[in-house]
Amino acid sequence: MKPYFFALLAVLATGLPGVPLAAQQGDTASGQALFATNCAACHGSDGRGGERAPSIATVRNVIARSDAELAATVKNGLSGVGMPSFSFLGDQKIADLVAYLRVLQGKGAPVKLTGSPEAGRELFYGKAACAKCHMIRGEGGFFGADLTTYGGNLSTDAVRTAIVDPAANPDRASKVVELQALSGERISGRLRSEDNFNIAVQTGDGRFHMYSKAKLADVKHTSRPIMPADYGSKLSSKEIDDLVSFLITTGSASPQAATRRGHN
Ligand code: HEC
Ligand code: HEC
Repeated sequence: MKPYFFALLAVLATGLPGVPLAAQQGDTASGQALFATNCAACHGSDGRGGERAPSIATVRNVIARSDAELAATVKNGLSGVGMPSFSFLGDQKIADLVAYLRVLQGKGAPVKLTGSPEAGRELFYGKAACAKCHMIRGEGGFFGADLTTYGGNLSTDAVRTAIVDPAANPDRASKVVELQALSGERISGRLRSEDNFNIAVQTGDGRFHMYSKAKLADVKHTSRPIMPADYGSKLSSKEIDDLVSFLITTGSASPQAATRRGHN
């Protein structure tokens, strides 16, 4: 009996004149089943990435998108990068998928901080030397992203993954790029800009290097993350908890994070 009841509700809901599609509420149970059949093969059954596609459960860029943006990605796909279009599912099923994706991202789960933000702050600026690359409220380096508002919208799990598994970040700008000049000189660092003719790379000492591609023998976009990948073994689990708590507490206290949260 039950499925008919829900089907009837769905017909009623979508049949009402003047109900904007964007306001469609997703059903997480339906989304879960749809995810298993349509998405898990590439993104992994928990959305944390597989061989053919990156994590969409723990990556900030994806979490920060609005429901409407996620729905548009699923509907239209991303041409040229291997993300197919699922427009054939229709708007309701896509809304269900987005609702379930939010569950995988930990939305709605209460954020329980088990670490000490004060101890995390000390690690960030001290022993763990995160501040060598990251800035928070104007203090620190700028080789990596500014993390002032970063944690405000994220689950502890997502922040922990970003710290212990930087290779999972699909963003190309987070990977090391290696250049070899025709003169033989080699540099490696962070890609800052690239077009058909020129490329700019920033090295760890903060310097920018601009090259005309005609003067380069080789440009290699590696899959190695710029951020050290060994924090999971160098820091204790408690220390990582402390860093996670510090980033979430700091992010939640920033007004920008509140706006971002309201956006979803
Ligand atoms: C054939 C493999 C494949 C399948 C199946 C697939 N995806 Fe993807 N998806 C990708 C790839 C590859 C990317 C990464 C594109 C890039 O490089 O940015 C991606 C990216 C995404 C993104 C992130 C886009 C962004 O905002 O950056 C979302 C969200 C997403 N997929 C959702 C889904 C959902 C939901 C399904 C199931 C309905 C699905 N994908 C099925 C391959 C797949
Ligand atoms: C050698 C430089 C470097 C160091 C040291 C470093 N990171 Fe990173 N980190 C990066 C880069 C590069 C990225 C890629 C994202 C970006 O900057 O755009 C990144 C990404 C991150 C992200 C994800 C940001 C996002 O927008 O998705 C977090 C969180 C983070 N780092 C935390 C830390 C913490 C905590 C430490 C210290 C334990 C640390 N990092 C040490 C360079 C560094």
